Amino acid sequence: MSSKLRGAMAVLLGILSGMPWAIGAEDRPTITREQDVPPYRLPDPLVCWDGTVVKDRKTWQEKRRPELLKRFEEEVYGRTRLGRPAGMRFVVRDEKKGVFGGLGTQVRVGVLLEGREDGRKMELLMYLPAKGRLPVPVFLGLNFDGNYTTTVDPDLPVPGHYAMGLFHNALTDHRPEEASRGIHQHQWPYAYALEHGYGVVTAAYGEIEPDAPDRWKEGVRGLGPEPGPGDWGSIGAWAWGLSRAMDYLQTHPRVDARRVAVFGFSRLGKAALWAAAQDERLALVISQQSGAGGVALSQRLFGEDVEHLTTKLGHWFAPDFAKFAGKESEMTVDQHELVALLAPRPILILSGTTDHWSDPRGEYLGGRGADPVYRMLGSEGLSAREWPRPSEFVDSRVGYYLRPGGHDVTFEDWQVMVRFADRHLR
Ligand code: GCU
Repeated sequence: MSSKLRGAMAVLLGILSGMPWAIGAEDRPTITREQDVPPYRLPDPLVCWDGTVVKDRKTWQEKRRPELLKRFEEEVYGRTRLGRPAGMRFVVRDEKKGVFGGLGTQVRVGVLLEGREDGRKMELLMYLPAKGRLPVPVFLGLNFDGNYTTTVDPDLPVPGHYAMGLFHNALTDHRPEEASRGIHQHQWPYAYALEHGYGVVTAAYGEIEPDAPDRWKEGVRGLGPEPGPGDWGSIGAWAWGLSRAMDYLQTHPRVDARRVAVFGFSRLGKAALWAAAQDERLALVISQQSGAGGVALSQRLFGEDVEHLTTKLGHWFAPDFAKFAGKESEMTVDQHELVALLAPRPILILSGTTDHWSDPRGEYLGGRGADPVYRMLGSEGLSAREWPRPSEFVDSRVGYYLRPGGHDVTFEDWQVMVRFADRHLR
């Protein structure tokens, strides 16, 4: 396909992905005006269940943080039922120097989760900068439709796993095909990251677990005990996959495993956040419009709410999350406390002005609500006291950027990501 045609496709996809995605959005109207947000009271992240007020790092680390983490397992994402598999193996498939006009090296690695090629596996696609001091910091994030959709490289194999398929509604099993090569490349500006001294590592989420309620057995949850009440959903599985990628990165001599920025867009942003909440090796977190079940506050009920999330996307969460549909005020945690679980690690929250479904203001408030925890830990929180205006970059340790536009990942987002990482990961 010509580069012109690809460019036109990327623009079209950008427009399409600015629309609320088909699932859920049209079923029932949601709150889209600020004046319709009901009054709510957020739980205080610094008050333990027994009433103890957290005033020091030790009490946070040993008492409050574990009890919050447990509550997120119980009420939202479910308990992760698998650790690092004993037999897991890594196989370097290929290494190609001089990609992107000499800016980087491409490395492909198979993560054999069951230790064998015919078992469950996840293929990592890595780009590492050719120049600069070793080891390098990297961005680590999952992609929706396969590594070969993130760039036009003709050598990347077309995989056989589940893919969501942008041309289809979510939850349809779209078979990867040659025609999709590079369709998401506008969201993956590898050369730009390489130029700035960062590596980028990705894998397809569908290799960890297909995004369909009745197909969990094919994914990594199928390796653990049958999920019962309180057990993990697909977000937990995808988050687990990010930790396995991290296991590999710790073994790679050119990667600085202490400087891994985990990121994710939309549902994959929810997964990145949940991964970092559980796995403290992930040094920096970037939420790209993670919305409800991500950094947006549940109790605001603006845009997507728990009923929407759990009606068609219930397989993403702990079964008990559905109990809070229409009863968000009965939840004992809200999403600002998910951000607090990352403290004092840096987190960047990216929103879009017209992405009402993800509640951009609620995403800011999710970060803002974690500020007291960051400050108690002696770190800078979110410095903006009011919701920042569009294009105003707040680069405090809890960072925020409201990009003009809709639900997408743009080059502008990457520029902000790199600036944030330059400040907090160097
Ligand atoms: C749907 C869903 C969101 C999710 C998004 C995505 O719109 O309702 O919660 O973030 O899909 O992953 O693109």
